[in-house]
Amino acid sequence: MLEIRNISKKYKRGSEEFPALKDVSLKIEKGDYVSVTGPSGSGKSTLLNAVGGLIRPDSGEVLYKGENIYRQKEKYLNYYRKTDVGFMFQQFHLMPYLTVIENIRLTCYKESHSNRINFYLDKCSLLDMKDKYPSELSVGEKQRASFIRAIISDPKLLLADEPTGNLDPGNSEMLMSLIEEYHKEGGTVVLVSHDPNAVRYSNLNIRIILGRIQ
Ligand SMILES: Nc1ncnc2c1ncn2[C@@H]1O[C@H](COP(=O)(O)OP(=O)(O)OP(=O)(O)O)[C@@H](O)[C@H]1O
Ligand SMILES: [Mg+2]
Repeated sequence: MLEIRNISKKYKRGSEEFPALKDVSLKIEKGDYVSVTGPSGSGKSTLLNAVGGLIRPDSGEVLYKGENIYRQKEKYLNYYRKTDVGFMFQQFHLMPYLTVIENIRLTCYKESHSNRINFYLDKCSLLDMKDKYPSELSVGEKQRASFIRAIISDPKLLLADEPTGNLDPGNSEMLMSLIEEYHKEGGTVVLVSHDPNAVRYSNLNIRIILGRIQ
């Protein structure tokens, strides 16, 4: 389904360049549940962003269904981001001027998606928060809202960056079981996490250290 071939990515730091990913290769099949672990700064988010069509690697290829997503027209990449990928950001990136429900509606592009919103709000204990703005939410509430925004359109690929980092054990378990349900129904998951509990669901664990897969 997805193949990453020899990707490298450097960031500019003043006049210096910092290599965040070094020659990373990885194959992900449909229905896989991949966990990505590694120390802070090792390149996990960079890898997830590259897979999600958000960071173009300096070299190498990200092949999705055989096509290099960064070699296609902008329209293809936009479509890939919209219909195939559900992205849960480490920093949430909720739109500050939109309420919780408006943020979630951003990624809904079919009526069937919007029809699921209340189910997820209820599961994530956010029904009472749906008309609140991100600035009015706790960090854990923001995290759950960003989870719903990522999963609501039933993407082919769910990319979750530290999805339980700010959750209490009960909410963490609830979120992991919703991801597991999505996975059981055929979804493909790539999850970055330090939480051993989260990693236990995966069938493949990738460990990254200093930008390299170990
Ligand atoms: N926009 C940027 N400009 C410069 N350096 C960056 C940028 N983004 C990330 N980096 C650097 O690249 C390296 C990898 O960053 P990345 O965010 O991928 O790490 P990570 O494994 O997700 O870390 P964490 O577990 O803390 O989230 C880090 O050393 C970071 O400082
Ligand atoms: Mg990160």
